[in-house]
Amino acid sequence: MLTPKRFIHSLETARIAERLAKIHSVDPDRAYLAGLIHDCLRDSSVSRIKKIAGREFVNIEREAMKIAPLYHSFGAPAAARKIFGIRDRGILSAVKYHTTGSVKMGKLAGIVYVADYIAGFRGTGSAGRVRKLAEDKNKLDMAVRMAAGGKIKYLRKNKKEVHGNTVLLYTRDIPEKRKMSGK
Ligand SMILES: [Fe+2]
Ligand SMILES: [Fe+2]
Repeated sequence: MLTPKRFIHSLETARIAERLAKIHSVDPDRAYLAGLIHDCLRDSSVSRIKKIAGREFVNIEREAMKIAPLYHSFGAPAAARKIFGIRDRGILSAVKYHTTGSVKMGKLAGIVYVADYIAGFRGTGSAGRVRKLAEDKNKLDMAVRMAAGGKIKYLRKNKKEVHGNTVLLYTRDIPEKRKMSGK
């Protein structure tokens, strides 16, 4: 189901998410599990995702704004439920928004979002900066925002479409933003 490279990425994301969860008082086992399965459809074809999702595929397509690389993300909750029997809504939300992010994300989803970013952009300065913020008990929102900004920059540079969720996440006004400019 996953290529070896993707599997290693998933393990790394899980490990980072577990560590961050402990810092942010979230159940580390839920964070680990979400990190482990977040990319379970990443190497699957659209027809395979369609098969797993069944009638839900229409919604996946709509939510992904027909951006094909995002189907694995919006389809992940269906796979988590149908393949792994996961019912935990926090985990389902975390896997769903791991690529685009969303202003609706809770702490667990935010942790998985930044863990995926840190693992994916490993070795780059921005991953280091996001990690540093995420490891601060009070700065998870800032880490999420910085990851969203990093993704937008990366996608634009590579002439790829940016999903509206990511733009909203980056441009929303959060208390930390005021803190940032105020102090
Ligand atoms: Fe992914
Ligand atoms: Fe990933």
